[in-house]
Amino acid sequence: MTQAEKIVQNPPQTAEDFIALEKQYGANNYKPLDVVVERAEGVWLYDVAGTRYLDCLSAYSAVNQGHCHPRILKTLTEQAQKVTLTSRAFRNDKLPLFYEKLSQLTGFDKVLPMNTGAEAVETAIKAVRKWGYTVKNVPANQAEIIVCTENFQGRTTTIVSFSTDETARGGFGPFTPGFVIAEYGNIDSIKNVITPNTVAIMLEPIQGEAGIKFPPKGHLKALRDLCDAENILLVLDEVQTGLGRTGKLFAFNHEDIQPDVVTIGKALSGGFYPVSAVLATKEVLGVFNPGEHGSTFGGNPLACAVAMTALDVLVDEKLIERSAELGAYFLAKLQTLTHPVIKEVRGLGLFLAIELHEKARPYCETLFREHHILVKETHENIIRIAPPLVISKDEIDQAFEAISTVFS
Ligand SMILES: Cc1ncc(COP(=O)(O)O)c(C=O)c1O
Repeated sequence: MTQAEKIVQNPPQTAEDFIALEKQYGANNYKPLDVVVERAEGVWLYDVAGTRYLDCLSAYSAVNQGHCHPRILKTLTEQAQKVTLTSRAFRNDKLPLFYEKLSQLTGFDKVLPMNTGAEAVETAIKAVRKWGYTVKNVPANQAEIIVCTENFQGRTTTIVSFSTDETARGGFGPFTPGFVIAEYGNIDSIKNVITPNTVAIMLEPIQGEAGIKFPPKGHLKALRDLCDAENILLVLDEVQTGLGRTGKLFAFNHEDIQPDVVTIGKALSGGFYPVSAVLATKEVLGVFNPGEHGSTFGGNPLACAVAMTALDVLVDEKLIERSAELGAYFLAKLQTLTHPVIKEVRGLGLFLAIELHEKARPYCETLFREHHILVKETHENIIRIAPPLVISKDEIDQAFEAISTVFS
C-alpha cells in the first residue's frame, strides 16, 4: 500500500498523526511548537483536539486584526465570488481604490503592491538602486545600500546576502553585492561607510527577529538628517513593526520623521492573504517604467479588497490606540517580574520581549504545554510577545498570570 492509500484509509486525526506526516513530506526548514492548529478566532487558536490556546505571536504580527476577522472574511468571500486575479495585464476596479486608501492613510505619494514582505524589500532595493542611477547619477552598477547588523528582512538570496546571521546565509552563496554593513543603532558606524555611491540606508526601525531591539532614542531623526545632508534615501522596513504593532501606525511615527521609502506586509491583509507594498515618494517610485518590475499576483483585486478592509478594521476599531494603551499595560506588568533568569523586559505597544540569560525555548514549551499560551523564542534567548491587537485586558491578565507562574 502506498503512503497516499494509507492516508485515505486512515486519515490523520491526532496532533501526532499530523506531525508525523509533516515530518515525512515537508522540508525541515522550521522548528515549530508542536501545536496543530485547526481553527482560530480573535486571539484564540484551537488545536485538532479542540484545546484552546491564547496566541501571543500573531503569526509574526500578520494577524494584528485578530484571527479570521469577520469583516475581512466577508470581504474575502464576496470578492472571491466576483474576480480574484486579473494580472496587471488588465486593470481592475479595486487596485485604484487600494492605492488611494493606502496613500491617504499613510501620507505617501505612491504605492507599489507586491505579495510577501521579502518581495516588498526586493522592490525597495530595485527602486533605490534605479533612483541612484537616474537621479543621483551614481555610475552604472556601483550603487551601495547601507544595512545594519542583525537585520532580518526576508529570505531571498539577495536579502540573505546582507544578513549577518550565519544560519540565515551560510551555504547559500554566492551573494548579491552592493550592500555595506554598519552597526545597528550606531550613527557613527553608519557615517563611516557612506561613499559617493551610497544610495540608501535601509533598516528596521525596531529589529523584530533580532529580538525586539531598539536603536537609541533619536536615532531615526539623526538618520533622517544624515540622509538629507548626504542625498541618501532613508528606507524603513515596517513589515513587522508597521500597521499599529508598536502603538502608532508606523514605528517611525514615534520619532516624528518621514522616510523616503517604507516596506509593509503582514498585517496589511490581517493574515488572510499575502499582501505587501512599497510606499514612497513620487521621485523614488517614479523610476519604474513598464516591464521593469512586477508580479503576477501583486495588486490583484482579491488582495486589494482584503487589504482595504484590513486597514479599515485597524482604523475603525482603534487598534493602533489599543496597541499603545494595552501594550503599556502589559509591559508594566511584565516589568514587575524579578526572576534571576530574566535579563531585560522591553517593548513598545504590543511588541514586547523578555530577554533571558538562558535559552528561551523551554519556557515557550512550558507556556504552551502547561498554560496554553503560545509564544515563540527568537535568537535563542528572547521570548517575543506580540498578541493580536484585539486582545482584551482580561486576556492580557491571563497571559501574564501564566508567564509569572513560569518565572516564579
Ligand atoms: C522586518 C521584516 N521584513 C521582511 C520580512 C519578510 O516578510 P515575508 O516573510 O512576508 O517575506 C519580515 C518577516 O518576518 C520582517 O520581519
